This record gives sequence, structure tokens and C-alpha cells, in this order.
Amino acid sequence: MFYDLARRFMFTRDAEWAHEFALNNLRRFAHTPLSAAWSQTVPNKPVNFLGLEFKNPVGLAAGLDKNAECIDAFSQMGFGFVEVGTVTPRPQAGNDKPRIFRLPQSNAIINRMGFNNKGVDNLVNNVKAAKYDGILGINIGKNKDTPNEQGKDDYIHCMRKVFEYASYITVNISSPNTPGLRDLQYGEALDDLLQSLKNEQLDLAAKHNKHVPMLVKIAPDLDAVQISQVSDSLINNKIDGVIATNTTLERAAVQGQQYADEAGGLSGQPVRARSTHVVSEIKRLTEGKLPIIGVGGIDDAESAKEKFAAGADLVQVYTGFIYKGPELVKTILKGL
Ligand SMILES: Cc1cc2nc3c(=O)[nH]c(=O)nc-3n(C[C@H](O)[C@H](O)[C@H](O)COP(=O)(O)O)c2cc1C
Repeated sequence: MFYDLARRFMFTRDAEWAHEFALNNLRRFAHTPLSAAWSQTVPNKPVNFLGLEFKNPVGLAAGLDKNAECIDAFSQMGFGFVEVGTVTPRPQAGNDKPRIFRLPQSNAIINRMGFNNKGVDNLVNNVKAAKYDGILGINIGKNKDTPNEQGKDDYIHCMRKVFEYASYITVNISSPNTPGLRDLQYGEALDDLLQSLKNEQLDLAAKHNKHVPMLVKIAPDLDAVQISQVSDSLINNKIDGVIATNTTLERAAVQGQQYADEAGGLSGQPVRARSTHVVSEIKRLTEGKLPIIGVGGIDDAESAKEKFAAGADLVQVYTGFIYKGPELVKTILKGL
């Protein structure tokens, strides 16, 4: 009810304005009686994944709360886990506006934000200030002006900064909006990156006496050979899990719609089938040995169940949440 009104208002405004407006209010009012507008009790469906206890298997996907400013509010909505970021070592402005577009006919979004964020130190301060004590994923990336050859250093820098505060860390190599980033998903570049990050993870685990699982987030646009190579590389480098998938460059499903030709990544219903396919291929190729978080086009219980049936252990939502609000978390959990 509340979200219906809020959405009606926000959808009359520019998409990024609405995003900022919503986040500002969630942050400001999370610890006041106004939080009743989004707080809800959801079915208790605990899951153990990667040695961690999740309240339920429905999480918030990365990119909505890039600076970890609203963790407490998302927890009040009933999410079983929250992933913040993508964060980079240094703050950066991202691409020129406008850079988010709604395609309501397909419950979809196109974005080319370009990792706009306030930097990893700011994120860590926000995490420290939050009251949240549930599962927190921190998604890390590289600055736009860092060449790919030194990209590894950016990921390591972020990993060191967030290690103490993250329940798990996501290595994002699949955003289409940082030029060249997706090249890190292939061949030697991938092996080299994963090997270095694995070594760093082990060093940090010894230093902090704590294992923090590391997951890699991949694109839906990988072909069969690439999916197989990525799967091998993740297994060979003993990566803890995979998040499938990020947004797609494909536009076939939205052709003719307003904004369909905007550059960026497409998310929501049009990416659903492709993401599910990637999940099931990874499940098959790794013989179920790689833990999987499924994300892409989940906007009801049925689409969530599709990801679980394909092999996902947990799911995340972003675009479905923009269209349906906090109620979506409850709807999915009730339907599982
Ligand atoms: C506006 C927007 C910004 C995003 N930013 C990030 C990001 O910073 N890092 C990331 O890993 N994924 C990011 N994503 C991708 C989502 O986390 C998710 O993987 C993708 O949108 C598919 O899920 P969905 O169909 O439920 O939206 C972003 C998505 C959107 C729509």
C-alpha cells in the first residue's frame, strides 16, 4: 500500500532523482517511527550457505546501496542478506547523467551508472555506524582510470579495507559500464586476478583469524565456451562461489521500447531467462560443487523458484524490487 503510493510518485520523476530521494529517506528515517512504512515481518526461512547463517535466502543485489548508507532500512524490510557496493578504492563520479532509464513495459531498467560511489573508506565508516548484524556482502571493483593491468591492485586494496567488516566479498568483473572491466572474465587475465585475490584472501584470513568467503560476479552475456572457462577457473582457484548474473548488453527483448537503445546494462524481466541459463550451466559444469547466488529478473515467487531449480542456493533482487517494493521479499518467501 505504502509502496504503491511512493512508487506512483517516484515513477513520475527522473529515475536517478527517485533513487536518491528513496535512499535519503531510508537513511534518515530508519531509526524513527516512520520506518514502519517499510518494516515488515517475513516468514522465517533460515539457510546455511558458505558456513554462514542467513535469515532467509532472499537478498538485496549490489548497486542499489553503493555506499552502504541504508543497510538498517533494508534489514527492516526482511531481506535475508544485503550486498552493498560496488565500491572502488577512490571515490568517483560515474558517467554523465541521465544514466538510469525505466522500461516499464518489461519491468526493466537500463543503467550506465559507471560505479559512482564515495570510495571504500566512506563505505567502511557507514558499515561501522550501522546497527545491522545480519549477513553483509561487500561488492568491490576498480576505479575507471585504473588500467586493467593494475586492476588487481584496486581489488586487493578494497579487499584489505573491507575484510574485517564483510560476511562475504564479491569481486565484480561483469559491469558493462566500466570500459574493459569484462575483459577480466577471460583467459589468463581471469586466472591471474583470481590467483592473486585467493592468496590475499588466505593472508587476510590468517591475519584476522577469520575466513571471509569470496564470490565472483559474472555477466549473462558469456557464451558456452566462456561459461565453461570461467567455471574451470573458479574451481581451480578455489573461489568460494559465484553470483550469476549482472546486467546484459542484449536488447532483443525490449526492441522498439522507449530507451531500448540507450547504452548500458539491461536488467529485470528481459535478463531472467539468460541468467537462469547461466546458473544451470554453472551448476552442471561444476557438478554442483560451486555455491551459486542467482540474480536476474526475479520479481515474484515463481521466478525465484526458477533460479533455485536451476541450481541457485540463494537469490538476489534489484529491478523487481524497484517495481514491486518491499512486498516482493515477503511474496517470494511465502511462495517458496
Ligand atoms: C541501476 C543499477 C545499478 C547496478 N549497479 C551494480 C553495481 O554497482 N554492482 C553490481 O555488481 N551490480 C550492479 N547492478 C546489477 C544488479 O546487482 C543485478 O545483478 C542485475 O540488475 C540483475 O538483477 P535484476 O534483474 O534483479 O535487477 C546494478 C543494477 C542496476 C539496475
